[in-house]
Amino acid sequence: MSSIVKALRLLADETRLRLLLLLQKEELSVAELQDVLGMGQSRISMHLGQLRKAGLVRDRRAGKNIYYTLNAHPAHEQLTTVIAASARELPDAARDQRALTLVLRKRQDTARDYFNQLAGKFGRAYCPGRTWEGVAHLLFALTPPLVIADLGAGEGTLAQLLAKRAKQVIAVDNSEKMVEFGADLAAKHGFDNLEFRRGDLEDPPIPAGTVDLALLSQALHHAASPARAVVAAHRILKSGGRVAILDLLAHQFEKARELYADTWFGFTEAQLHEWLEEAGFREIEISVVARDPQNPQFQVVLATAEK
Ligand SMILES: C[S@@+](CC[C@H](N)C(=O)[O-])C[C@H]1O[C@@H](n2cnc3c(N)ncnc32)[C@H](O)[C@@H]1O
Repeated sequence: MSSIVKALRLLADETRLRLLLLLQKEELSVAELQDVLGMGQSRISMHLGQLRKAGLVRDRRAGKNIYYTLNAHPAHEQLTTVIAASARELPDAARDQRALTLVLRKRQDTARDYFNQLAGKFGRAYCPGRTWEGVAHLLFALTPPLVIADLGAGEGTLAQLLAKRAKQVIAVDNSEKMVEFGADLAAKHGFDNLEFRRGDLEDPPIPAGTVDLALLSQALHHAASPARAVVAAHRILKSGGRVAILDLLAHQFEKARELYADTWFGFTEAQLHEWLEEAGFREIEISVVARDPQNPQFQVVLATAEK
């Protein structure tokens, strides 16, 4: 603020005082101030411009709206007291406060009406910012610090997400190029708890009984023998450790062999259950969790179990 005298001169105007009294309570847009004061936009903007220039209020742009609020500054403390005290003498001050309550209620109602209409459809509706990748980051941030084996890890997209919280992630893949690329990427991103090892799903280079979680994401349908891969996952797990298999539900899209080098056309829930049970897992849970929106609309099955 340049000068106290200048500020006091500005406070001598009733409209500006009313504006300051409102902005003392709430950050408001010009349109909201118009609603409360029942005045035209140019008059309000002119007064706000003067107050802003004197450093008594500050503005913030949000899209097409500009929001104003009182500038909290230690030098304004006495002025703030004067502004608050002036409410007793201003004939319109009490009415302004009532109108402010209505305007704020309208603000809340707009958001509430929007969500009231969406209830029941929200799961399918577009929600800005709610991407699956974002949700995955959120969930991974909540996982405890485990030792994780990512079997058939590819270039380690999931392994890197897991490594943010995991104690250790061992990413296994039988493609030397994937292992090389994944290891380089992990080093570039500074992960010292993510190690890539070249090896096979059916006999991963990991000692028995050493990991808390064995993950097979879209990898099992590449194994020559999925049953053997499930037995191998059981072997490397600590007692009480868990396996999680994310794969395709059995399908008939035969081109998957030539397009994606798939060995198996997905699995039925019964097949997965049988292999898990035979390997010695308990607490087996299997369900179809997603359907790919793109043709041929593969369905995704998730199986989890405990050693
Ligand atoms: C479809 S990618 C999945 C990558 C990763 N798990 C993901 O969800 O993004 C399958 C990966 O499994 C690897 N793979 C295929 N057969 C394998 C095997 N027998 N042993 C180890 N890795 C294998 C491939 O090299 C490839 O990187």
